[in-house]
Amino acid sequence: MKKDLLTIGDLSLAEISSILKLTEQLKKNKNKFAKSLSGKTLALIFQKPSNRTRVSFEVGMYQLGGNSLYLSPQEINLGVRETIRDVARTISRYVDGVVLRTFEHKNCLDMAEGAAVPVINGLSDFSHPCQALADIFTIKEKLKELKKVTLAYVGDGNNVCNSLLFAASKTGMNISVATPKGYAPADKVVKQAQAFAEETGSRIKITEDPFSAVNSAQVVYTDVWASMGQEEEINKRKVIFKDFQINAKLLAGATKNVLVMHCLPAHRGEEITDEVMESRNSIVFDQAENRMHVQKAILIKLLRS
Ligand code: CP
Ligand code: NVA
Repeated sequence: MKKDLLTIGDLSLAEISSILKLTEQLKKNKNKFAKSLSGKTLALIFQKPSNRTRVSFEVGMYQLGGNSLYLSPQEINLGVRETIRDVARTISRYVDGVVLRTFEHKNCLDMAEGAAVPVINGLSDFSHPCQALADIFTIKEKLKELKKVTLAYVGDGNNVCNSLLFAASKTGMNISVATPKGYAPADKVVKQAQAFAEETGSRIKITEDPFSAVNSAQVVYTDVWASMGQEEEINKRKVIFKDFQINAKLLAGATKNVLVMHCLPAHRGEEITDEVMESRNSIVFDQAENRMHVQKAILIKLLRS
């Protein structure tokens, strides 16, 4: 039966561990499994812009011996020219997998339901699972473990925050989330993460105090204050989020060698200062690189028959 990856919740701890292990091998040797997706094609259906997700999937697919096909917003015109399920049913006759970058998460569910081939969420308004898998791989690579690590996420309770909550709680990492009032992750997300945490012992803290979140954290993470589709809110958000910037003052309260992460693209001077982005604590480009290694592992797991 085909398997989709729409949220981290679709994966068991064993599946996550196995993806991380395979990622490590693929990163060590880019030619490993070089022909494993020979003859396969991956469709990238994107309704929003992308650098990392598009390029890392395309190059990753190429390195595994397969092809990819990028379909920009104008091409498929998702949900406008025909229903998403009809797109899914048609495209499944041509390709071996679909990466969908879309607005409403329901579009991912509809695509997965209609498609006979695996569907991978390349970012929806609800989640960004490939990002969070690359993030936990990066943390493990740097700190050698996930349990006992505390990640502080400071900023908007958005898609990336949701996926980090799921990834942390599934793997036993502790997570503290600090957002301004009214921008916390949805209750149902926190409840689901708490349910995962009961199994793994992960500690979850939700606060409106960024200093309390970063206190004793080994990793501090942020993302843009206005996500794609919310651009017109940025001026309002700049005021609301001003105390939630990752800067030297905030990091003074974290552990000495704190790692700074950002899914990118970064808006320097908004959610993160130039100084912090360029500091020796910043691992944002290692994180970006790891998107490709982890996605190659995901592609092998889902597309190789
Ligand atoms: N982090 C991330 O998904 O980047 P892109 O939007 O450039 O793909
Ligand atoms: N939260 C951001 C992440 C970009 C990778 C967005 O959805 O635009």
